[in-house]
Amino acid sequence: MSTTAAANAPPVLTIDGPGGAGKGTISRLIAERLGWHLLDSGALYRLTALAAAKHEVALDDEAALVDVAVALDVAFLAEEGATRVLLEGSDATHTIRTEQIGDAASRVAALPAVRRALLQRQRDFRQAPGLVADGRDMGTVVFTDAPLKIFLTASAEERAHRRHLQLQKSGVDASLSSLLKEIQARDARDMQRSVAPLKPADDAITLDTTRLTIPEVVDRLTELLTERGLATGT
Ligand code: C5P
Repeated sequence: MSTTAAANAPPVLTIDGPGGAGKGTISRLIAERLGWHLLDSGALYRLTALAAAKHEVALDDEAALVDVAVALDVAFLAEEGATRVLLEGSDATHTIRTEQIGDAASRVAALPAVRRALLQRQRDFRQAPGLVADGRDMGTVVFTDAPLKIFLTASAEERAHRRHLQLQKSGVDASLSSLLKEIQARDARDMQRSVAPLKPADDAITLDTTRLTIPEVVDRLTELLTERGLATGT
């Protein structure tokens, strides 16, 4: 599949990888540093899952889920250090982050017709001066011509540990072992699905963040962007 992007299309940095590898935080920091737009594609799958629950659409009803995805009424409002997410005018910023919605999102995301329904919506985020695209298939399907593709990963244990800390900070009590199991189940579903499975693009650079701090990852990505002439002046 090609992205049919014009030769002078704005640049895209794709950041793919499993959940909890730091994609969200890193993508935001890089987008802020470059002054580029940000696409959180996982949020679109989460919002589809949430809208389905709201409209009582079953997670195995592919045709009805496509209708939900096509009609998805969402807004991403950039605020300092965060993005406020609205679904049908109501704040869904925190609701979409629960493990339950994450799990439902990965089921919805395994349906080819739902992925097709969300494709153009994602490509529309590609606007000047550039885009940081965070997801699972940004480099392999959505923006195949991106000038820099990163596959960000970390061990499942480290990712469970990070998610645990994140939940604790927001006052949610969750067991580390059940988080690890959920992460492993979600990884398996994302990697084994037939359409757009989670894997690095052939031309992606893999960065294992297990032993790296956030500033170290941001610095490494800034070096790569500079090497490719994408981050002059940062
Ligand atoms: O990244 P996040 O955890 O928000 O994504 C939620 C789910 O959406 C993932 O587990 C994955 O199944 C799906 N997803 C996807 N393709 C993307 C982004 C997310 O299939 N580009």
